[in-house]
Amino acid sequence: MSETPGLRPLDPADLQGNRARYDALMDVVVNRITTREFDSSFDVPREHFELILEAARQAPSGANSQPWHYIIVTEQPVKEQIAEYFVGEQQRRIDLNMKFPTPNYSGLATAPGFIVVVTDFRFVRAFPVLRDEHSALVRSEVNDMYVQNAERILLQSVAASTMSAHLAATALGYNVWWVTAIGQEGAQKAMKPLLGIPDDLSVLDIMCFGPPKTKTYKRWKKSLGEIINWDQFQPEHHLSLDQVEEWIQTQRHKVMYRDAKNVD
Ligand SMILES: Cc1cc2nc3c(=O)[nH]c(=O)nc-3n(C[C@H](O)[C@H](O)[C@H](O)COP(=O)(O)O)c2cc1C
Repeated sequence: MSETPGLRPLDPADLQGNRARYDALMDVVVNRITTREFDSSFDVPREHFELILEAARQAPSGANSQPWHYIIVTEQPVKEQIAEYFVGEQQRRIDLNMKFPTPNYSGLATAPGFIVVVTDFRFVRAFPVLRDEHSALVRSEVNDMYVQNAERILLQSVAASTMSAHLAATALGYNVWWVTAIGQEGAQKAMKPLLGIPDDLSVLDIMCFGPPKTKTYKRWKKSLGEIINWDQFQPEHHLSLDQVEEWIQTQRHKVMYRDAKNVD
């Protein structure tokens, strides 16, 4: 087996509570910032793609199934065709009156780093689900619940891997953009032929990265006190549905598109 880059025998005594190591990690975590338009003149060295996907490769996954594939898109016309699909999606949302503050997806075509994340939903079978004698998934109320949970396991697994890639790109000095909105049949049909993706695999998201076109800003994050609970869920953390709706009405657009200082 080939040696894993960076792997070294851990001596817990050396590392526990090592604040400098934590701070180095947080330097990357805190500076992972989304941008939606890049400096398109920048060339990402091939090695950087490999370093980024090496980080993705090391991620944890349910049953260690590693249900991910990454397609590095280097051809500008392909980036443009994918961007076009998203610009159309932007318009569809407006037409459907979703009132979602959809960003300008033409920025996709400006990304020097463009990686399509593909998953293999057949791996839900690697998780606890009932299958019949032909290995087909059983349709029943009980098993549907397990299948739903298996899908969650799969999605969390791919997200863990994708997040490692985003952090690696940040560590290399890039801004990133995590693009979803591609679960729909139409999106799959538009993208798979462009990239030679077999029918039984699914495009899950797109990772863009590169130097930003304009200065980026740090977005609002909840305070630690708002998300942390010790032993018991704190009732004051529980929002009513009305409060959730109010947040969507009054805050969502601000936290998506303004810097942290300018969100009341
Ligand atoms: C699972 C997930 C899906 C996302 N989908 C989209 C998307 O489809 N389009 C988009 O512009 N941003 C998308 N984002 C980026 C978020 O809008 C962004 O992370 C958030 O506003 C916080 O900003 P920050 O990344 O700078 O902290 C997504 C992020 C995640 C983690």
